[in-house]
Amino acid sequence: MTGRGHRGKGLSQFLNHWAVVSPQLRPANRAFAARAAAKGALGGPHIRDLSDAWARCHDLMRRPAIITAAAMKPETSPAAGQPMPTALVTGSSRGIGAAIASALEARGLAVIRHGTRAAGPMTLAADLSDAAATARLWDDACALAADTASGRIDVLVNNAGVFEASPISGTDAYWLAEWERCLRVNLTSAAQLSRLAVKGWLEGGLPGRLVNIASRSAYRGDSPDHWHYAAAKAGEVAMTKTIARAYAKKGILAFAICPGFTDSSGGNAEDYLASRGGPALLNDIPLGRVALPTEIAAMAAFCASDAPPSMTGAVLDANGASYVR
Ligand SMILES: NC(=O)c1ccc[n+]([C@@H]2O[C@H](COP(=O)([O-])OP(=O)(O)OC[C@H]3O[C@@H](n4cnc5c(N)ncnc54)[C@H](OP(=O)(O)O)[C@@H]3O)[C@@H](O)[C@H]2O)c1
Repeated sequence: MTGRGHRGKGLSQFLNHWAVVSPQLRPANRAFAARAAAKGALGGPHIRDLSDAWARCHDLMRRPAIITAAAMKPETSPAAGQPMPTALVTGSSRGIGAAIASALEARGLAVIRHGTRAAGPMTLAADLSDAAATARLWDDACALAADTASGRIDVLVNNAGVFEASPISGTDAYWLAEWERCLRVNLTSAAQLSRLAVKGWLEGGLPGRLVNIASRSAYRGDSPDHWHYAAAKAGEVAMTKTIARAYAKKGILAFAICPGFTDSSGGNAEDYLASRGGPALLNDIPLGRVALPTEIAAMAAFCASDAPPSMTGAVLDANGASYVR
């Protein structure tokens, strides 16, 4: 083991010991404490690695009172002694979903990512326009989750979606096929996965959290070419509220997030604006800009972890006040 490895191990031993002796710290905080130390949360931005953190901890050991419970509060809050949760985030190969997956990982959750193509050990591929593939995704995700700390999926984030134009001038067959596809990918797959998750949580007597990424269009409606998209997102909101009301007493919580325009282009803002009708759309956003994936991710991570149970059924807007309800 390298010198740094020794120091890293020593640091976590120290933090474990400290967590045991301190009445302010729960065992579940230990892993967070080690990460926080490594990230510099214990001592400020000048701490850049475990060696620095170790030295800083020795210093702090002589003055433990300056570390408050608030400073050590984990960003996620599993019940005392419980392992960190595991989340499945659909459509997390890019865009908002990738930002959500990263935000959850930063909070210490194990995250199973998903896209139409697999790319990595904790990433699953499934085409959500296919009902059988959607069901398989759940089974595959449960199998992957079995090897995580919690051993199961505790959080489901239904984020995958398509936003494809379908003008009413298209042929009947085309328009109907586009309607079916949009509803299938944006709503039915989320319903399928939500049902499997809720059934599993009920059967196991376990709590769980659902976070559904809907859209401002659920409330405001969308462009003339996106009847299907707005209908799917409104359905997702209604489904979320129904689940929240049905299973709150069982500890199953459900939230929906309704982003307005969100630059999911991965850095090419002009392309994103062009894909949504051009820069003129900014005139309709009092904030003066579109949302960022990291903003939606912060909201999703909150719903997936710290949001108080009384908030279940909430639908959160993120649209720069372009649609205030
Ligand atoms: N961006 C916005 O302005 C905005 C606004 C409101 C709501 N939203 C909602 O936010 C969510 C994410 O949007 P985004 O802009 O981040 O989308 P995005 O960048 O286009 O990414 C879409 C994600 O969904 C996956 N996906 C698409 N079709 C799929 C299919 N048939 N089967 C499985 N996975 C599929 C994609 O996987 P691949 O990478 O494999 O294709 C990708 O991971 C969507 O539900 C969207 O409706 C977005």
